[in-house]
Amino acid sequence: MHKAIAIYPGSFDPPTNGHLDLIERGSRIFSELVVAILRNPEKSPMFSINERRQMLAGLTAHLKNVRVDTFDGLTVQYAKKIGAISILRGIRAVSDYEYELQMALMNRKLEPTLETVFMMPAGKYSYVSSRLVREVAQAGGQIKGLVPDVVVQKLRAKLDPAYKLQDISEKKRKTRA
Ligand code: PNS
Repeated sequence: MHKAIAIYPGSFDPPTNGHLDLIERGSRIFSELVVAILRNPEKSPMFSINERRQMLAGLTAHLKNVRVDTFDGLTVQYAKKIGAISILRGIRAVSDYEYELQMALMNRKLEPTLETVFMMPAGKYSYVSSRLVREVAQAGGQIKGLVPDVVVQKLRAKLDPAYKLQDISEKKRKTRA
């Protein structure tokens, strides 16, 4: 049987527990899932493309049929280039539906051979988005449980230089001990 490769495209700025939940679900139904991070020079992201790639690679290392890549241009072009048959997207609530439907139909118009597959993340993540996580973290709010612990650390390090320095000296102290 031929391999069913899917791509899961997005900005992942930063990756959330909702993204990871969807990646795990997708990895169970496709033979290979490629998490595809859009390189978008127009936006000014909080995390660089390399930071996002590293975070996602670490967070999905236990899933042997998942890999992480970056792309520019059209999602459908990238999907065809790597031999994917499907685009995976998550729908959290009705509010996501209109945007996702529009995007799926546009992608179908551009490339009719690709099928968009929607999956629902766990209900407990239905309100979690990268944008809200950034907003809450920037204002000093608690984001534990919404994003993986490694992302909490990275956000703290980015938003609080003092925390970063404290972390470095802590690491040095541990290596000396
Ligand atoms: O994380 P996001 O912002 O929900 O992801 C949106 C993304 C990256 C999937 C979408 O913006 C996209 O596919 N961009 C690539 C350009 C493209 O193909 N545009 C036409 C899609 S209808």
